Amino acid sequence: MPFPDISLREKDAVLKEHLESSPVNSGATFPVVRPRRLRRSPVLRAMVRETELTAADFIYPMFVRPGKDGAREIPSMPGIYQWTITALSEEVESIANLGIPAVILFGIPEHKDPVGVENFSVDGIVQQAIRAIKKIVPELVVITDVCMCEYTDHGHCGLLNLGDPLPDPSLPEGYVLNDPTLEVLGKVAVSHAQAGADIVAPSGMIDGMVGSIRKSLDQNKFENIAILSYAVKYASAFYGPFRDAAESPPKFGDRKSHQMDPANVREALREAELDVSEGADMLMVKPALPYLDVIHRVHSQFPQIPLGAYNVSGEYAMLKAASERGWLDERKTVLEALTGIKRAGADLILTYHAKEAARWLAEESGKSRR
Ligand code: PBG
Repeated sequence: MPFPDISLREKDAVLKEHLESSPVNSGATFPVVRPRRLRRSPVLRAMVRETELTAADFIYPMFVRPGKDGAREIPSMPGIYQWTITALSEEVESIANLGIPAVILFGIPEHKDPVGVENFSVDGIVQQAIRAIKKIVPELVVITDVCMCEYTDHGHCGLLNLGDPLPDPSLPEGYVLNDPTLEVLGKVAVSHAQAGADIVAPSGMIDGMVGSIRKSLDQNKFENIAILSYAVKYASAFYGPFRDAAESPPKFGDRKSHQMDPANVREALREAELDVSEGADMLMVKPALPYLDVIHRVHSQFPQIPLGAYNVSGEYAMLKAASERGWLDERKTVLEALTGIKRAGADLILTYHAKEAARWLAEESGKSRR
């Protein structure tokens, strides 16, 4: 192609003349190996591309709430909604048509209580949503988040050490009790499976949750329902917008007694190893972008286990906000970030960008065929 910008060409000529007349000898040597040879054209670049992002890599998180009115946009997550059952039913078809294979559901219940009863009731909001989705697009894989924080009135991920006397006086007041919580998580997983979920995803970082849920599922003849464990979940400030969306912030305290310290990675391998030994079918690291090294380490240590990475609400909000201000190119930065997560070793990416990214990827593959 002829060089289009004549003024640039003139500038080059001036520069060349200047270089030639310069008294300084640069002494430059010229390389034999030139990686740029393979970056010379779009086709060459595509031929040597190592990581290919596709819509089949995505899992789309969705929030469901009771009510009849339509979808309600989440202020800190533009483009993401709390769906009612009716609105959700219209939405899932377009998700499947984009080639996205799976959704993960989060419920916002009508009522919250200390145990989160709606989380394991036949007509709970998530149970209704699963049935509605399966009626419309049976092939869409439905994953459910198995945790108590969206359902409890105190916003914590399990049963608490509260009361007089304390259930366990050796532990601090308000501590998330481990083993009593396992009982509830088993009920929740079975209830989601009964409603038709394909995969359950325990997210509470409760010790033994995978083994315990596996046992509950198997005892109830759900041995074919898979477990995607949030094996490595950090106590992250990047969950902020999600807690608005799911109306699930803890009413007091934080989640540091069960979620991991962001400074740790060897501990991540230990968590992953335990969940594999308890029967996890898939693992997850969460969040994704500040933890690419963790994704890489877990993938290298357990290459035989499919690995998910959760590109969480705060990561979504950052790119959205900067793009809205015109500070970043949304399409390019989103695709770059998602490619980075896959390159680090994730097989699956849970991302709020899934629909837009799937659309952009389809446009790009259309372009490259032309
Ligand atoms: C817990 C849960 C959380 C997220 C997914 N599952 C919140 C938390 O642990 O506080 C966060 C996801 C996101 O930020 O996108 N049920």
